[in-house]
Amino acid sequence: AKRRVKVAVTGAAGQIGYAILFRIASGQMLGPETEVELQLLELEQALPALKGVAMELEDCAFPLLKNIVLTSDLNTAFKDANYVVCVGSVPRKEGMERSDLLKINGGIFTAQGKAVEKSAASDVKVFVVGNPCNTNALIAMNAAKGIPSDRFFAMTTLDENRAKAQLALKAGVDVSSVKNMTIWGNHSATQYPDFYNALINGKPVTDIITDTEWLKGDFIKTVQQRGAAIIKARGLSSAASAANAAIDGIYNLVHETPAGQTYSMCLASNGEYGVDKGLIFSFPCRTEGGKIKIIEGIKHNEFGQEKFKLTLDELRGERDAVKSLGLI
Ligand code: NAI
Repeated sequence: AKRRVKVAVTGAAGQIGYAILFRIASGQMLGPETEVELQLLELEQALPALKGVAMELEDCAFPLLKNIVLTSDLNTAFKDANYVVCVGSVPRKEGMERSDLLKINGGIFTAQGKAVEKSAASDVKVFVVGNPCNTNALIAMNAAKGIPSDRFFAMTTLDENRAKAQLALKAGVDVSSVKNMTIWGNHSATQYPDFYNALINGKPVTDIITDTEWLKGDFIKTVQQRGAAIIKARGLSSAASAANAAIDGIYNLVHETPAGQTYSMCLASNGEYGVDKGLIFSFPCRTEGGKIKIIEGIKHNEFGQEKFKLTLDELRGERDAVKSLGLI
């Protein structure tokens, strides 16, 4: 018999929701042996639109999709959920004060963390996409103290995929030959896409791409600012690629990682690489025997150390800000 799981998705009627739900339901996230029940959360006013999305899901006749729940109630959405994918949030808008942004999301993610603790399955994994995703995950984790902190994740998979694509284009190689492309730190413009420790066909990137100025300059800038470039070109923020990254990210968490490889994931530090315990930081990770572990021992040169410190300081600042607002 196939395994069956419940997947809750918040902000399900939004752009990313419209791209991710079909891929979850088709089996691309959890594999062909896992049946899924979707439990979709939206704001009251978006429930009619969500109904339309659910009609389309039905019309796909996905063999693995066994049930769809539509709700604006947190505990209904998270009831017995094995996966909670937090897409809905309030990203920063033009002219919005940082403290206002943190307060709004603080409210959302405190309530969601509490509801996860109260209603979700005992093996729940929480994967935060909605921005600022590291700090939103931090808030949810702190609001759900009854759940082990190693069940909370935030997404840097899109940054990792973007970085792989840029390296492959520059080197003129297939994108699948780029491995271990770690994003360190925050999913923000301070992230460090660590080309020094990434591999192309098993060799250091810097052996293949000798234009170090490009790597240190335009490459990092392109990855850091890709989101803004998409908005400029499309008039809307990246959605299909973000949904694809969430599928990849959760796939990585729940499937064994091939030998010698790592993936990028934001999760609570236990002090690795000098990152404060409990900070949600993007690290190189592997899934082994069903366990997710941070890979230690990767070295940074002076350039890397500087970039690392920048993104770590930013995340410390975000944590201190939510702390001073009493959110954690
Ligand atoms: P969107 O605005 O199209 O959809 C968001 C949906 O969430 C809306 O339908 C809204 O009604 C719903 N929503 C808002 N607050 C909610 C709440 N408290 N409970 C339930 N639903 C709620 O936005 P889109 O494009 O789907 O993006 C979603 C989030 O993902 C944004 O915060 C965006 O910044 C973030 N993002 C993160 C990326 C990453 O790499 N981590 C990449 C791309 C986007």
